[in-house]
Amino acid sequence: MIDKQSPLPMYYQIEEDIKQRIADDDYRAGDMIPSERELSETYDVSRMTVRQAITNMVNEGVLYREKGRGTFVADKKIEQPLQGMTSFTEDMSSRGMEASSRLLQFERIPSPFDVSRKLQLHEEAEVYKIQRIRYADEKPMAIETTFIPVSMFPGLDERIVQGSLYDYIEKSKQLKIGKASQMIEATIADEQQSSLLDVPAASAILHIERNSSLTDGTPFEVVKSSYRADRYKFISDIYRA
Ligand code: GLP
Repeated sequence: MIDKQSPLPMYYQIEEDIKQRIADDDYRAGDMIPSERELSETYDVSRMTVRQAITNMVNEGVLYREKGRGTFVADKKIEQPLQGMTSFTEDMSSRGMEASSRLLQFERIPSPFDVSRKLQLHEEAEVYKIQRIRYADEKPMAIETTFIPVSMFPGLDERIVQGSLYDYIEKSKQLKIGKASQMIEATIADEQQSSLLDVPAASAILHIERNSSLTDGTPFEVVKSSYRADRYKFISDIYRA
C-alpha cells in the first residue's frame, strides 16, 4: 500500500491512501477512522508517521478529532466558484442538496448609514433586515443578514424569505438581477455564531459581503454573511493579462 523505496514521504503516501478511501466511499463523512496503532500496523510504519499524516489532514479539514473518542471523516467542503452570481438555494440544489432557512429576524428598520449609502437610499428610507440561518440538508452552513429597500419590495413577508429571495425577485417581481460586488474576509466565530452554526468556539469563519444590483444598475440588496470555513472553499480561474 505504501512504497518505502519511493521518494515520496511515507506520511504523504498515507494521506493520499486515506483520501483515496474517502473518495471511493470506503470511509464516509462521520465515520471513525482506525486508531493510530491500527494504522501503524496496517501501513507498517511508526505511530509518529501516522500521527503526522493525520495531523496534516485535520489541519486541511479532511478529518476532525473528538477528544476521548477518535478521529472522524469530515463533511466534504463545498467548492464555490467565485464567478457566477448564484443564490444559496441554487448553490445547494446544483449539488443535490436541499436548502432551507431558519428565520432569526425579519424587521422593517430605518436604514443604517452604511446600508443607505450602498443602496443609494435617502436618509429616512426604511429597509427590511432579514437574518437567516441557511441550511444544506439540515446542516447549518451560513448566517446571512440581508438589507433590502422596503420601497422596492413593499409586499415582502416572512413566508417569502423562508424560501429563495432571488426566486421571489425574479419570478414574482419579474426583476432582472444583474451583478454584485463581493468581499471575502477571514474572521473567528463569536459565541453566538458558533452556537448557531454548530461549530466549536472560535472556529474559522468566512465573512462575505455582497452588494447587488439589477441589470438597470439599481442596487437592491446588501448582504453580510458568515460562512463556515470548514464547509466552504472558493475557487476561480484566473488569467494572466
Ligand atoms: C447567496 C448570497 C446572498 C443572497 C442569497 C440569496 O447566499 N451570498 O447574497 O442574498 O444567496 O439566496 P436565496 O435566493 O436562496 O434566498
